[in-house]
Amino acid sequence: MKNKVYIETYGCQMNIADSELVMGILNNVGYDVTRDVHDADVILLNTCSIRENAEQRIHGRLGNLKTFKNKNPNTVIGILGCMAERLRSELVHEKSIVDLVVGPDEYRRLPELIDVVYAGEKGLGVKLSRTETYDDIIPYREDGLQAWISVMRGCDKFCTFCVVPFTRGRERSRSLSSIVDEVKHLSGRGFREITLLGQNVNSYRDEGMDFADLLDSCAKVDPLMRIRFTTSHPQDLSDKLLETIAAHKNLCNYIHLPVQSGSDRILKLMNRTYTVEHYLNLIEKARKIIPGVSFSTDIIAGFPTETWEDHLGTLDVMNKVKYDGAYMFKYSPREGTKSYKMGDDVSEEAKTKRLQEIIDLQQKHSLELNELMINKTEEVLVEGTSKKSTEFLSGRTDTNKVVIFPRSEGIEEGDYVSVKISKVTSATLFGETVAITNKREVPVQAAVQSA
Ligand code: 5AD
Ligand code: SF4
Repeated sequence: MKNKVYIETYGCQMNIADSELVMGILNNVGYDVTRDVHDADVILLNTCSIRENAEQRIHGRLGNLKTFKNKNPNTVIGILGCMAERLRSELVHEKSIVDLVVGPDEYRRLPELIDVVYAGEKGLGVKLSRTETYDDIIPYREDGLQAWISVMRGCDKFCTFCVVPFTRGRERSRSLSSIVDEVKHLSGRGFREITLLGQNVNSYRDEGMDFADLLDSCAKVDPLMRIRFTTSHPQDLSDKLLETIAAHKNLCNYIHLPVQSGSDRILKLMNRTYTVEHYLNLIEKARKIIPGVSFSTDIIAGFPTETWEDHLGTLDVMNKVKYDGAYMFKYSPREGTKSYKMGDDVSEEAKTKRLQEIIDLQQKHSLELNELMINKTEEVLVEGTSKKSTEFLSGRTDTNKVVIFPRSEGIEEGDYVSVKISKVTSATLFGETVAITNKREVPVQAAVQSA
């Protein structure tokens, strides 16, 4: 009998890509993938440590799984990802229901470590590697429209608040040729959008080639394949990269560029290695080189010693840039990081108030920017039925905005359509279809598999 494995993914897109990798590895040695936890012989949680509440969620989930494990003592329960790397053997103490703890660089050993558990011991694999990129592993992906490809692993930036350099280790890149091959393969299967992933994609290097070269090569594979990427560090985003984006229609005009704070003093304490001025100049340059480019960002409220003035600096940067979107967080102290030693002196109350102001301002900006889209016609990649009504379809613009429009004859998932925008909210655009600009041809094999 084949073993069945079930995986739950928490945290960032990198973890989603890693879960596909893990499924690829296990599928290769005969495991079947199941979507039903009750049907599983092996349950894996791919975890995140970025903030305290991410870890609390996993502890909560393990609490739920306790009854399940008591009833099904032979089911293997494993923790993967950043929390596995951070907490290591703490997670497999004797009374714990966790049998298996495997960090991000040891996934190749999963089949062997699961066998260790079947032999009656706990399985632990938490070594970090300077070279592991899983270059040769084909991730397990169901047919679809969008895929993630991780192009580099780890981070050498050591922002003082961040656990990632400790949980994911040093930076290393996959080979350009293997990434381009993967894009070709996905294009052949009918995928229409890929996102190239890395903690800091701008550090990508392969034998003298950089991230701009990689984007250029990927863009040439299939002009109808949209290409996105995340995340960029403001210190490393080059002119060459901006020019490459401008040169290819299928490289999306959307850059995620975390600012974190609008105070030079805080940026210094964060070890972000740029100033507000540098950041704003970069935005201005990008807007010149790529007309219509949109930006999203990450912002932290309440970093140690942050004053009200520092906070006003953050609001000021937001007003100057006007982001299309933002991921906004309260500072969460993480043990082992440099900022942990700085204390956590901004009160919970102040953090909540600052974060709310940031969120409110962002909503206002998103709405203002979306209002400028009214009466414009946008090319939309159709992603499927709208969540709220089967009479509507949903898709996204090149600049990553969600568009809802009436379902009509002949329009299917994967088609490009042009939509005239008639109404907006801060989160969504609504419109009418003007024309189908390109129909997706679903390859025969994919059509059969998904039937
Ligand atoms: N507290 C709050 N937010 C954090 N981030 C990273 N570490 C922390 C932390 N300790 C945020 C940053 C980063 C995003 C992925 O998560 O904004 O860009
Ligand atoms: Fe963390 Fe900074 Fe690296 Fe991003 S660039 S993963 S925030 S250390």
